[in-house]
Amino acid sequence: MPSVVALYRVLGIPAPWTEAAARFDYAGTTLLIVGGGSNNGRFGVQIAALAGIGRIVVVGGDEAELTSYGATHVLDRHGGPDAVLVRIRAVVGDDLVYAYDTVNDPAGQTLGLNALSGHKKGVMARLVPTGPVDESRVVGKVAGFELRDAIGMSVYQKDEALAFWERLPGYLESGRIKPLKFKVTQFSAAAVNEVLDAYRDGKPVAKTHVHF
Ligand SMILES: NC(=O)c1ccc[n+]([C@@H]2O[C@H](COP(=O)([O-])OP(=O)(O)OC[C@H]3O[C@@H](n4cnc5c(N)ncnc54)[C@H](OP(=O)(O)O)[C@@H]3O)[C@@H](O)[C@H]2O)c1
Repeated sequence: MPSVVALYRVLGIPAPWTEAAARFDYAGTTLLIVGGGSNNGRFGVQIAALAGIGRIVVVGGDEAELTSYGATHVLDRHGGPDAVLVRIRAVVGDDLVYAYDTVNDPAGQTLGLNALSGHKKGVMARLVPTGPVDESRVVGKVAGFELRDAIGMSVYQKDEALAFWERLPGYLESGRIKPLKFKVTQFSAAAVNEVLDAYRDGKPVAKTHVHF
């Protein structure tokens, strides 16, 4: 649901089931997703592909998996923000107007904001709205930019939520939305700590369901 809200409401890209969809140039649209390895990033790619967005540029995550969901470019997230920004701009140039940051706190959100176009007003949706961004670190935005918070709870956006949940069984049956891989573990402090330690240490983390 967070990615449905981020794309179809917060960024203002029409949901494919709306009347506005007929007038929107999805194929000519580029979307940057920062955090392709996260659950929300992986669903973000699928939600973008569901609408037919032409270029889905993703920072981080497994290339084969994300490409299977519809990503057109998967970029290495390592090496520091300057190096990652160079990789993004090599793909999108100075024309990006839609970005979605699924993982970073405000300090890291400058990456996506700096990837936005300088001469067109861009917008970025973020899932971690824990404070303001230091705008002195966002450079060259002659046309300005907007940073908007996405709260992915169905109860706060009933229109999009109802429309999406109604369609989800069909999307799953047709394979247009694929469930993410997960593992099941029996509850124990050690099992939970193992998952948390992997997050802390920046290791790949499988979505884990803890059963009691
Ligand atoms: N606003 C909302 O409604 C809402 C809803 C749900 C979750 N959230 C928040 O959204 C965030 C993501 O949640 P999630 O469950 O999707 O995350 P997650 O699946 O736990 O994401 C972890 C993965 O993100 C990748 N990652 C970590 N640091 C990164 C960085 N600096 N740049 C790019 N990728 C990075 C790593 O994957 P790789 O190593 O494979 O790159 C890591 O394994 C959390 O902070 C969560 O609290 C907000």
